[in-house]
Amino acid sequence: MPFFVCPGEGVVRPLEGLSAIAQLSVDELVREASECERLGISAVLLFGIPEEKDEEGSGAYDDDGIVQRALRALREHCPRLLLLTDVCLCEYTSHGHCGIIRDGEVDNDESLELIARTAVSHVEAGADAVCPSDMMDGRVGAVRSALDDAGLTHTPIVAYSAKYASAFYGPFREAAESAPSFGDRRGYQMDPANVREALREIALDVSEGADVVMVKPALPYLDVIRAARERFDLPIAAYNVSGEYAMVKASAARGWLDERQAALESLTAIKRAGADLVVTYWTKELATWL
Ligand code: PBG
Repeated sequence: MPFFVCPGEGVVRPLEGLSAIAQLSVDELVREASECERLGISAVLLFGIPEEKDEEGSGAYDDDGIVQRALRALREHCPRLLLLTDVCLCEYTSHGHCGIIRDGEVDNDESLELIARTAVSHVEAGADAVCPSDMMDGRVGAVRSALDDAGLTHTPIVAYSAKYASAFYGPFREAAESAPSFGDRRGYQMDPANVREALREIALDVSEGADVVMVKPALPYLDVIRAARERFDLPIAAYNVSGEYAMVKASAARGWLDERQAALESLTAIKRAGADLVVTYWTKELATWL
């Protein structure tokens, strides 16, 4: 179950494009996550909305950053929940890109150190697994060696390996306040027309030490999930992204389709294609439906 954690106390800020999902302050997150734990949900994925953004995304790797504070609180109050964190700079940079900018372009190699530092600081604050989603080349290797150097050799990496430059992230970018202020993400995310590139990207992540590989989005890329399932033995994760969820929610709100049935059919299709793990905004509702 994905969560967006924001500063403050008693904050529940509903998100227009992601009805039923809200930005939550740490105290409200603890309340929601405890309910998820009670419903039998085993894992949450955290995204942070920092107090302030800057050029270097320093809120991402601040020991007292928003995700780090949320992790400490969840570790204490929800002992059985697996805590996963999205590791990326885009929510923390003033320009909204997933890496740092040099001469008007995202600098892949300079971004790696900051991404690795973010992963280490999440684990030190209590994360059970880290999920690098920035799509910089070499980030899985950089995260693995930084974790190992910090003595965190047992922490798994769930890599967003085949992440496409997709229009379906729209509602998320509003939720995470992470839309790029110039250009787009096609320099680091993948071309929707290309499936072989996805397999190359996954193979690279596996060779760098990924423990789980992810395909994202899910529904428009079921063939990619299937191809990954056939080629690789690692667990495959799929991210049923914000736009996929919002389409169904918006239609259901107009009475054009039955939300529960459409959601179950979508999630079944993602499993059928070969996903072992599914990240979806329906997780909480799913726990009550099943
Ligand atoms: C961060 C990130 C994104 C999503 C997950 N991690 C957005 C993006 O790449 O712009 C999208 C999730 C969703 O749409 O639900 N890089």
